[in-house]
Amino acid sequence: MKKVFVTRKLDDEIIDQLSQHFKVEEWPHDDRPVPREELIKQVSDSHALLTMLSDQVDAELLEKAPKLEIVANLAVGYDNIDINEVKKHGVIITNTPDVLTETTADLTFSLLMTAARRMIEADQYIRNGKWQSWSPYLLAGSDIHHKTIGIIGMGNIGQAVARRAKGFEMDVLYHTRSPKPKAEDEFNAKHVSLDELLEQSDFVVCLAPLTKETRGMLGAEQFARMKTSAFFINAGRGPVVNESALISALQNGEIAGAGLDVFEEEPISSDHPLLSLSNVVAVPHIGSSSRATRFAMMKLCADNIEHVLNGKEPITEVR
Ligand code: DGY
Repeated sequence: MKKVFVTRKLDDEIIDQLSQHFKVEEWPHDDRPVPREELIKQVSDSHALLTMLSDQVDAELLEKAPKLEIVANLAVGYDNIDINEVKKHGVIITNTPDVLTETTADLTFSLLMTAARRMIEADQYIRNGKWQSWSPYLLAGSDIHHKTIGIIGMGNIGQAVARRAKGFEMDVLYHTRSPKPKAEDEFNAKHVSLDELLEQSDFVVCLAPLTKETRGMLGAEQFARMKTSAFFINAGRGPVVNESALISALQNGEIAGAGLDVFEEEPISSDHPLLSLSNVVAVPHIGSSSRATRFAMMKLCADNIEHVLNGKEPITEVR
């Protein structure tokens, strides 16, 4: 019987599905990653790995995985996987596109709204007993409607964010390697250079994947180009941003605030400098985390594994 190793505790239904056909072993914790030595041990006789974005799949691991046929990554991003090495070893990689698009766009847009309308500060204001009376500029924030949103990375999630922005009658700018005519028709979105996007947007939303080209692409020079009234939202990958440059821009008033789902190194601790800033909204990489979507992602990983180990085409192969 072929063996599947699952690197985090998942829904019982998913494990039951896989167990009907395969021998399944699962790291029994849902709140901490499998230690590297355990992963290396488990992979030695595994035919499939169901991985999280916190697991590094690299040359060292693959050398120890003679039977491996598929790595099914529970994320749309796969920067935790060395694609070239995996391909060299003839292993198939799958990810979880589409099923998480709308949920991740919801979170991205809510980060934007939460930062602009100072929702966390406002919530804490009441909880801390500071609310004595109504006052004209109490926790006055920034408008969202009719403003300009600039989306860096106009893939499926970027387009789903643009669709939400249109509901707020925002102007949509975007920056990607190649223009997206469909998005231009549907949202009247304008393809611009990165500099133009940074200079003109009231909300800069980063959804770019992490690649050699995008690592560190937003640094001091880029934040300096943004309007002092603008907000920076990141729901893509942390290392696309130079975090110390972001912290300086926020501290020096070069930008108005930030909404962050991702960080240079995750997890961050409660004494992280970003968390000392009241104009930052931070959440722990939960972009796709609704119950329904996380279940759909798990199911897609299980279906991909079932297909590949049974000699069929994978459903969502990373090519
Ligand atoms: C992804 O799918 O890449 C997300 O970051 C995980 O929620």
